[in-house]
Amino acid sequence: MKKKNVIITGGLGFIGSNLVEFFLKKKFKVLVIDRMTIGSNIKNLDKNKNLIIKKFDICNYSLMSECIKKFNPKAIYNLAAETHVDRSIKNPKSFVKSNILGVVNILEVLRKKKLEHNFRFIQISTDEVFGDIRRGKKSLEDDAYNPSSPYSSSKAASDLILKSYIRTYNLPIIITNCVNNFGPKQNPEKLIPKTIINILENKNIPVYGTGKNEREWIYVKDHCKILYEILYYGKTGQTYNIGSGFVYNNLFIVKKIFSILKNKFKAKTKSKIIFVKDRPGHDFRYSLNSKKIFKTLRKLPKQNFEKSLIQTVKWYKEKSSYIK
Ligand SMILES: NC(=O)c1ccc[n+]([C@@H]2O[C@H](COP(=O)([O-])OP(=O)(O)OC[C@H]3O[C@@H](n4cnc5c(N)ncnc54)[C@H](O)[C@@H]3O)[C@@H](O)[C@H]2O)c1
Repeated sequence: MKKKNVIITGGLGFIGSNLVEFFLKKKFKVLVIDRMTIGSNIKNLDKNKNLIIKKFDICNYSLMSECIKKFNPKAIYNLAAETHVDRSIKNPKSFVKSNILGVVNILEVLRKKKLEHNFRFIQISTDEVFGDIRRGKKSLEDDAYNPSSPYSSSKAASDLILKSYIRTYNLPIIITNCVNNFGPKQNPEKLIPKTIINILENKNIPVYGTGKNEREWIYVKDHCKILYEILYYGKTGQTYNIGSGFVYNNLFIVKKIFSILKNKFKAKTKSKIIFVKDRPGHDFRYSLNSKKIFKTLRKLPKQNFEKSLIQTVKWYKEKSSYIK
């Protein structure tokens, strides 16, 4: 096993590309496997002598098997997934394929391979598997899954399959369930980039329903630091919630971005918030109890929502070429 080799699937997407950058800074060799579908952007990664990018689907058994054999990584981080909830409502099948069958395909490669000591498969899952939760409640790792959308149910299904591979085949798997990420390189159709870009372009900001739906928000770079630490301090067979404690509703987020652009960047805009018909099955609230991961890790990022949101706004403002 090459101790400084990692495979990151979905490495051209939002979280994946931030994670690739993080590992490159730590002097790792990184092999990205990405089908280059929605969410991916080739501009997300600069050329680097320690970076290899392979364009294929994680559902392809022979290519997956060949890459793992040749690259012989210390870990595989699986971030390849269809991720947009609205798209999952329109076309659930592609979510089942990538998010469930894709995961099973990698697991089958691993099951049939002689794995070296200390190898890890780390699955990046979501808080959405727990479904809607009441105010005041926080989901714990072993709470029952209750997903609402085809996206979250495909992620829940793959988590359950992963748990069965831990129990039945003793594969060295770690599952992480993270809250909503924000930061550089996110597809501009998601709430935070869309709001920033629309304000900069004087377009209105569509907000679902009353805008009161609550999410917990983590800065993507803080998430990546935690994912790195998990490689060394996480225990195989375990599931870890990854949160921040910053729970805000969508309307608060949009207003906050307006105020940052106005006060910090002196932006003038004609944009207005417009409330649009709510998404079918839209969950009202997610929030995680993340005590387990914070007890497990040695180093913790000092999370600061306001500072990270300012950094994010600055990034999109300066990278107008990123807007597709
Ligand atoms: N964004 C969030 O807030 C968030 C929160 C918690 C968990 N997650 C999870 O993190 C992972 C990454 O999310 P993201 O926001 O970076 O998504 P993203 O849509 O930005 O990136 C996903 C990447 O996976 C690739 N991909 C999709 N299907 C593939 C396939 N079959 N084979 C190979 N590549 C494929 C896409 O081309 C894209 O580059 C997902 O598994 C998601 O469920 C995301």
